[in-house]
Amino acid sequence: MFEKPAAADHPIFELLARRWSTRAFSDRSVNRATLASLFEAARWAPSSGNGQPWSFLVATKEDSAEHDRLASVLVPGNAWARKVPVLALSVTSLDRAPDKPNRHAYHDLGLATENLVIQAVSMGLAVHMMGGFNVEMAREVFGIPARYDPVTMIAIGYPGDSESLPEDLRKKDVAPRQRKPIREFVFSGKFGQPADGILKLDQMDDQEFTTRADQALSDLNRRLAAPAEEHEFEVDFNAGALAIEFETPQGKFVVSPNSPVRQIWVSAHSKSFKLDWDQARNAFVLGGTGQTLAELMGDAVGKQLGKKVNL
Ligand SMILES: Cc1cc2nc3c(=O)[nH]c(=O)nc-3n(C[C@H](O)[C@H](O)[C@H](O)COP(=O)(O)O)c2cc1C
Repeated sequence: MFEKPAAADHPIFELLARRWSTRAFSDRSVNRATLASLFEAARWAPSSGNGQPWSFLVATKEDSAEHDRLASVLVPGNAWARKVPVLALSVTSLDRAPDKPNRHAYHDLGLATENLVIQAVSMGLAVHMMGGFNVEMAREVFGIPARYDPVTMIAIGYPGDSESLPEDLRKKDVAPRQRKPIREFVFSGKFGQPADGILKLDQMDDQEFTTRADQALSDLNRRLAAPAEEHEFEVDFNAGALAIEFETPQGKFVVSPNSPVRQIWVSAHSKSFKLDWDQARNAFVLGGTGQTLAELMGDAVGKQLGKKVNL
């Protein structure tokens, strides 16, 4: 699967970084036990007054008529989701009790849904939520009572290959992920006033980054010395960047600091990896997998040599 880990400015839990909304799903079915775990995760979400206002309608490809019924409410722009093996529709109850509106109905459904999503990611699945469906049609088709609101369609399945999507969808799938900076939505004292005094939002300065990157690369260089001798590959640590060259099979990896974004970039096996400084681990870490630079390079070198290499 194409990975699009969050380019987090600050370290975050790796499952959160790994989740993203792909449109490329494989045909592989999701078994009943796995589906039960997803909704179990939703079940344990917190909710205002433990009101648990959520409900879900679900269908799998195995029951194609039911799956078609759910798919039929999608807007044309979400037609890609008709092929996804599992579809669900989330619904929230707008009242806690008769005449007692629940101001947190949508909030709590969102919490339950995100629980489901993160559980799914932890199990190797992908999830894509969609507001683009015909709400009135959904009400009618599924007999959703008044004061219950259908909120999102949810596509669930194993990730597929973005390259197999039609060009317009492929472009969306491979486009970089964007987010507003924290300053634009975390305030202190007054709405709109950034919470700079409370959160450490400043990036490390140039000098600090250069020092840390240099230390990380020197450390990697040291760790590579023994395997390089044993397996006869070249390591060249020069001008702040490190290159590893293999003769058989031929290959070259490059590890270089990228100062403007305060990241260490690795090019290996025709892929590019971007590692951020993780204060808690005192190391440069890959967002999607949580691997440190040494762990990532150990895997990359091992893959090249066809042997296990621990750095
Ligand atoms: C409530 C909700 C509604 C969404 N509706 C659609 C939709 O109708 N079609 C679609 O392709 N993506 C939809 N998305 C996916 C968002 O576009 C996506 O989450 C957002 O661009 C951020 O990208 P990421 O999830 O990959 O980080 C929706 C997401 C949410 C949470």
